Amino acid sequence: MPATRPGSIGGVISGWGATLGERVVTNHDLAQTLDTSDEWIVTRTGISERRIGGTTAGLACRAASDALSLAGLTPDRIDALILSTTTPDRQWGTAQIVQRELGLQCGSFEVNAACSGFVYSLVNAHGLLAMGADRVLVIGADTLSRITDWNDRATAPLFADAAGAVVLESTDGPGQLLGWDLDSDGSASELLWADVGGTVNMEGKEVFRRAVRIMMDSAEKSMRHAGITADDLALIVPHQANIRIITAACERLGVDMERAAVTIDHTGNTSSASIPVALTEALEAGRIADGDNILLVGFGGGMTAASAVLRWGGATS
Ligand code: ACO
Repeated sequence: MPATRPGSIGGVISGWGATLGERVVTNHDLAQTLDTSDEWIVTRTGISERRIGGTTAGLACRAASDALSLAGLTPDRIDALILSTTTPDRQWGTAQIVQRELGLQCGSFEVNAACSGFVYSLVNAHGLLAMGADRVLVIGADTLSRITDWNDRATAPLFADAAGAVVLESTDGPGQLLGWDLDSDGSASELLWADVGGTVNMEGKEVFRRAVRIMMDSAEKSMRHAGITADDLALIVPHQANIRIITAACERLGVDMERAAVTIDHTGNTSSASIPVALTEALEAGRIADGDNILLVGFGGGMTAASAVLRWGGATS
C-alpha cells in the first residue's frame, strides 16, 4: 500500500508504556519439569527468562495508564481504543473491560492478527485519524502462557505475557507514518495455529524459514513506500520471536544488530505486546531521537506480517 498521502491528517505518538507478566520464569525453572536446558533455550532462541501472569485486560490497563500519563491526557480525551490481542480474557468484551477500567468514554474493539496485531492496529488507528478522530489509544496485550502447553518442550520455552501501549494523536500533514504494509499468507495457516480453547501448535522450522522471508518482504515494501533504504534506519523494532530470526532478518536487510531493539532475552515471545514493549524499552533507554527513522516489523500466526516506517518526533495539533 502507498505511503501516507501528502496533505492528509497524520499521527504522532505522544505517549507509550509497557508492562510484563507478574512472575519471572527462568530457563532453569523450566528445566525442572521439561527435558530441556538453559543452554539449549538460550542458544536456539535467545531467551533466558520470561514473565508470566496477569490477565490480558489487566496488563493492557497498566501499559495504557503509563501511555496516557506520558501523553498528559485524561481518559475522556481518547476517541477510540484498539486492543490487539490473540488471547482475549473472554470470547468478546475484553476491549470493553479495558475501556471501563481506564474510564475511557469512546468506542473500543479488538484486533486479532497474532503477533503482527500491534502494527495492524497502529496502521488502522491512522485510518481513524484520517476520518476525524483526534486521539486513539492502541494497545498490544497478550497472555500466551494461557494457551501454551507447559508439557511441550518445543513451545513452552517461547511464550510469555505482557502489554505495550501508545497514544496516537492527530497532526496536520503526514505525521510520523511514512510507509506501511499489511500482509498475510493463508497457505501457511497450518504451520502455526491455536484452536479456540486449545494450545499453540507450531511447525517450528518451517515457521522460522517463512518468518524471515515474510518479515523481509514486508519491511522492504514499507521502506520503499517511505522512500528510504535500510541505511536510513536509526532503529529496527522487530517482533521478538527468536533472536536467530531477528539476526537473520537484520542481516538480509543490511542492518547491523546495534540498530535492532532486542528484548527477547528477558521477555520471550509476547505476541501483540512484543513490538510496543520493545519500542517502549528503546525510548526509555534514550535510543530514539527526533528525526530518526524507525522500522516496526512483525510476523505471526496465520501467517500475518506487518510493518511501518515512522519518522520520530513532530508536533501534535
Ligand atoms: N530443549 C531441548 N531440546 C529440544 C527442545 C527443548 N526445549 N525443543 C526441541 N528440542 C530438540 C528437538 O526434539 C530436536 O531433537 P532431535 O534433533 O533429536 O530431533 C532438536 O532439539 C532440534 O529441534 P528443532 O525443532 O529442529 O530446533 P530448531 O533449531 O528449529 O529450534 C525453535 C526450534 C526454537 C522452535 C525454532 O524452530 C523457532 O524459533 N521457530 C520459529 C518459532 C516462531 O517464531 N514462532 C512464531 C510464534 S508467533 C505467533 O504468532 C505466536
